[in-house]
Amino acid sequence: MAFELPPLPYAYDALEPTISKETMTFHHDKHHAAYTNKLNEGVAADPKLEGKTIEEILGMISSLPPLVRNNGGGFWNHDFFWKIMGPEGTTQPSGKLAEAIDAYGGLDKLKEDFNTKGAGQFGSGWAWVIADQSGALKVVSTPNQDNPLMDDAKDKGAPILGNDVWEHAYYLTYMNDRPGYLKAWWNVVNWDAAGKLYDAAVA
Ligand SMILES: [Fe+2]
Repeated sequence: MAFELPPLPYAYDALEPTISKETMTFHHDKHHAAYTNKLNEGVAADPKLEGKTIEEILGMISSLPPLVRNNGGGFWNHDFFWKIMGPEGTTQPSGKLAEAIDAYGGLDKLKEDFNTKGAGQFGSGWAWVIADQSGALKVVSTPNQDNPLMDDAKDKGAPILGNDVWEHAYYLTYMNDRPGYLKAWWNVVNWDAAGKLYDAAVA
């Protein structure tokens, strides 16, 4: 069965003013749709991928062609990205995730390290907060549409937060100011969603 473009879990303008309606519309309807369609082309061309979940595909990505890597990553990453964002100012870190952030060194340090990784990722890619087996948080970045679920990722772990630092994610509003986008992006983090991902990762 083909993968389907998941709908945005909120309105296109729900993340304004941090992320504009125009950016969200292009990002979801054009970019995420294109990754989905091309992933399906790659899956259709390879009988051994039939019936596999996207997580299973990412877990064997080192043996698969660039078409599946780039678009399978793009498909999963954007679905994740929409889910860990939400309207500004509605949530804050709580529960076990808040404790893990304290253990990391605090929210300000987490944000600073994440923003540094995102700004320093040459070309296109993603910044991530991942949880390791012990529940410790780590801040990492990946190139292109790679992610920490890929079998050959340098830093593997359960993604808790991720920010898209491809120009298509911010250019219409922030132009070339990637650091400005990274700083503002924290306004629209859905900490409840991130907390649930953390709870599942350490369960
Ligand atoms: Fe993107």
